[in-house]
Amino acid sequence: MIELYIIGAGGFGREVLDTLGQANAIAPAYRVLGFIDDTLPRGTLVNGVAVAGDIAHLASLPDGPRALLAIADPAAKRRIVTATRERVRYQTLIHPTCIISPFAEIGTGCIIQGYSLVAANACLGEHVVINAHSGVGHDTAVGAFSSIMSFCDLAGGSSVGELTFAGSGVRVLPKIRVADASYLCGGAVVMKDVPTSSKMIGNPARPIG
Ligand SMILES: CC(C)(COP(=O)(O)OP(=O)(O)OC[C@H]1O[C@@H](n2cnc3c(N)ncnc32)[C@H](O)[C@@H]1OP(=O)(O)O)[C@@H](O)C(=O)NCCC(=O)NCCS
Repeated sequence: MIELYIIGAGGFGREVLDTLGQANAIAPAYRVLGFIDDTLPRGTLVNGVAVAGDIAHLASLPDGPRALLAIADPAAKRRIVTATRERVRYQTLIHPTCIISPFAEIGTGCIIQGYSLVAANACLGEHVVINAHSGVGHDTAVGAFSSIMSFCDLAGGSSVGELTFAGSGVRVLPKIRVADASYLCGGAVVMKDVPTSSKMIGNPARPIG
């Protein structure tokens, strides 16, 4: 059994708890030791699992505790990993319903939720989230700490930089490049390359903010 904590008891953390339960129903593999959350008091029960403490508590535990980083905010993910990299062993999790090419590269700490596809020669950097029902096309790259929410389609040969958030239902067309630290609003259809730190909305996607 892999014993681990779930960092983040918010919506995504609770979805990840469900994924562990669904994986265990097929073949028992995971034992959840608790949620780690900076915003909830220790002992708070979240869907039957207690909050064990905050990030400082996790980092203080002996023997390199194992954890899933179940947070969607890219900047928060990088902040937590930077502060805890030496102390915490980050787990990668792939929902049993996913289709992952044997020729895809999946970085440490990635979480890929149900019914997602990662196609041939796609490459996910460390701590990337691919939420449910999303597709990462062939030869597509997603940079470290980026989060791709549910029902997104990153078409073949496209790329999404580091620290980028793609809201629900985003589509990035083939070979289009989205640079680092961008925010793609829910439902955006990205047809042209996107410069660094852009916020894009609509169909066709245009910059806002
Ligand atoms: C774009 C976004 C950041 C805007 O948030 P906001 O500033 O709170 O915007 P508001 O809800 O006040 O809406 C402002 C206007 O933008 C429109 N709008 C909001 N989100 C939009 C979107 N994704 N695409 C197109 N128009 C949008 C609203 O209809 C509203 O239009 P109006 O002024 O004509 O009534 C947010 O809606 C979004 O897309 N977030 C992504 C969330 C997501 O997908 N999360 C993952 C799942 S949990």
